[in-house]
Amino acid sequence: MCGIVGYIGKRQAYPVLIKGLKRLEYRGYDSAGVALITDTKGLEVYKTKGKVADLEEYVKDKDVSGTIGIAHTRWATHGEPSSTNAHPHISCSGNLALIHNGIIENYTVLKEALQRHGVVFKSSTDTEVLVQLIDYIQQHVGTDLLTAVRLALRQVIGAYAIAILDRNEPNQIIAARKSSPLVIGVGEEEFFLGSDASPIIEYTDKVVYLDDNDIAVLRRGAKEAEFINFDNEKIEHDVKTVDLNLGQIEKGGYPHFMLKEIFEQPQALQDCMRGRVNVEANNVVLSAVIDYRKELLNARRFIIVACGTSWHASLIGKQLLENICQIPAEVEYASEFRYSNPVIDSRDVVIAISQSGETADTLAAIQLAKERGAFIFGICNAIGSSIPRATQTGCYIHVGPEIGVASTKAFTGQVTVLTMLALALGKARGTIKNEDYVRLVQELDAIPEKMKKVLEQNDRIRDISRVFTYAHNFLYLGRGYNYPVALEGALKLKEISYIHAEGYPAAEMKHGPIALIDAEMPVVIVATQNPLYDKLMSNIQEIKARGGRVIAIVTEGDEKVKALADEYVELPKTVECLEPLISTIPLQLLAYHIAVQKGKNVDQPRNLAKSVTVE
Ligand code: AGP
Ligand code: GLU
Repeated sequence: MCGIVGYIGKRQAYPVLIKGLKRLEYRGYDSAGVALITDTKGLEVYKTKGKVADLEEYVKDKDVSGTIGIAHTRWATHGEPSSTNAHPHISCSGNLALIHNGIIENYTVLKEALQRHGVVFKSSTDTEVLVQLIDYIQQHVGTDLLTAVRLALRQVIGAYAIAILDRNEPNQIIAARKSSPLVIGVGEEEFFLGSDASPIIEYTDKVVYLDDNDIAVLRRGAKEAEFINFDNEKIEHDVKTVDLNLGQIEKGGYPHFMLKEIFEQPQALQDCMRGRVNVEANNVVLSAVIDYRKELLNARRFIIVACGTSWHASLIGKQLLENICQIPAEVEYASEFRYSNPVIDSRDVVIAISQSGETADTLAAIQLAKERGAFIFGICNAIGSSIPRATQTGCYIHVGPEIGVASTKAFTGQVTVLTMLALALGKARGTIKNEDYVRLVQELDAIPEKMKKVLEQNDRIRDISRVFTYAHNFLYLGRGYNYPVALEGALKLKEISYIHAEGYPAAEMKHGPIALIDAEMPVVIVATQNPLYDKLMSNIQEIKARGGRVIAIVTEGDEKVKALADEYVELPKTVECLEPLISTIPLQLLAYHIAVQKGKNVDQPRNLAKSVTVE
């Protein structure tokens, strides 16, 4: 998601802001912008599509003077990445500039109301409604900026960290937060603000972490920042000392992006489901399914095309779509599909899955399917990337930028979107019983909390990984929905630790791989309490009988498997088809810790790249 930064004090603001944006670029990088109150011209806003480096290039010949400013690096949620949609957004009167990280859920209602009062919007973002609403209140109620912000935020539903400049009040920045992070840096008669402390720690180690519903007023020359709530009551905050170095903080305090992204999964899935899964109404709503109901409901078959981890998510998607919607689904490697001669026509729906949205093979597969008349649905993470542009419709997974080359949170985000898609279609087609639908919606909503329970076992998984760091081969087994999880676990290990690993459906072991089993070859098996539990127990017995060492992923409290396995990790109970969302986490962590112990470059493994834009 976006990064926001701000400065007010005696320094030139622009260099502080640009440096800050670069540190926050991991949060988003589809467009960037800066607003300054310059020495000569008043409020100036410069913004452009692209990365922070593009913004620097863009402002080269502009006036970037001034000692107060705010800046933003965007990861679009509403509205394509473009200069117009980039932040800061300016209000109708031209007085206010605002930056925002988060999603304004009721923006449509607020926007329509403002439009009825003649407010003209320039962008297609949710964010612009904030600056227009604050401006409207200032103009029509005649209040100062702080009061207008307070009144406006009382009407807003959603998540936000914001900062605002007013050209008529050039000696203050107002900032506020709810559900999106915001840190204030307190220097000697100067203040900084950032989505995390990384833009700040170079100048001061004194910070205040804002709580939800806090508004901060940063006044030029003041010794302390002021904090109030929406009812105008004063709030006291302790100033904390940050003890972090720059290298760490850019990864949010984690040693690697991969670990950070593994731990982000509960929040990432909440972001993915926000506005889509409504647990009170027991409903799943996907706008693509509403807009393209006919094309999707009449599908004769789904063909899912993807590569790597996204291909593994596709295998889970196939089972979800077939079981819940009763529509046949096939999964193809995009690289094979593009050179095959597939028998497809306009009755087929091709689902293309890609984290980056730029994978060349997947793009080519889409092209081929399009030529043959199929309807194309995309599931991507990177907003505005090539695949969403090449598809007729689709869903973003909204899990935030994934920087570690080994995909983690994108996988669980893809599986979540596939689950929501299957539920929305299954309900519309009447192929899922209402009680099953309600249970799945409730269980899906509960997944982030269950993920946290798995993540709490990180130290235990690290200890397990120490035992197996120097193994040369690994076997990963699973059945049903957990078979693709076994494939994904093996891929993670291969990618970052360079250990050979194979994933198999557990029952296939006896058709060959069992010959490999000995004390030197650890077997990771997902053996949860689902309908195939007894079969999986027999598989574990077969491994043990041949001297194999078993790391079992088990359902909480299952003493039987725990007694049999050499090592185990427990998962909270959930419904079978949602198990991959939690069973994949121990495998991600196992691969991570083994790679770290082997001293490998976890975030940038050899020979790999984050987006594979070549064949
Ligand atoms: C996963 O860890 C990979 N690095 C890789 O397999 C990846 O999933 C694959 O290249 C597909 O990428 P995409 O999702 O961006 O299309
Ligand atoms: N919703 C805003 C936009 O799309 C902010 C995005 C974010 O924080 O990721 O511009």
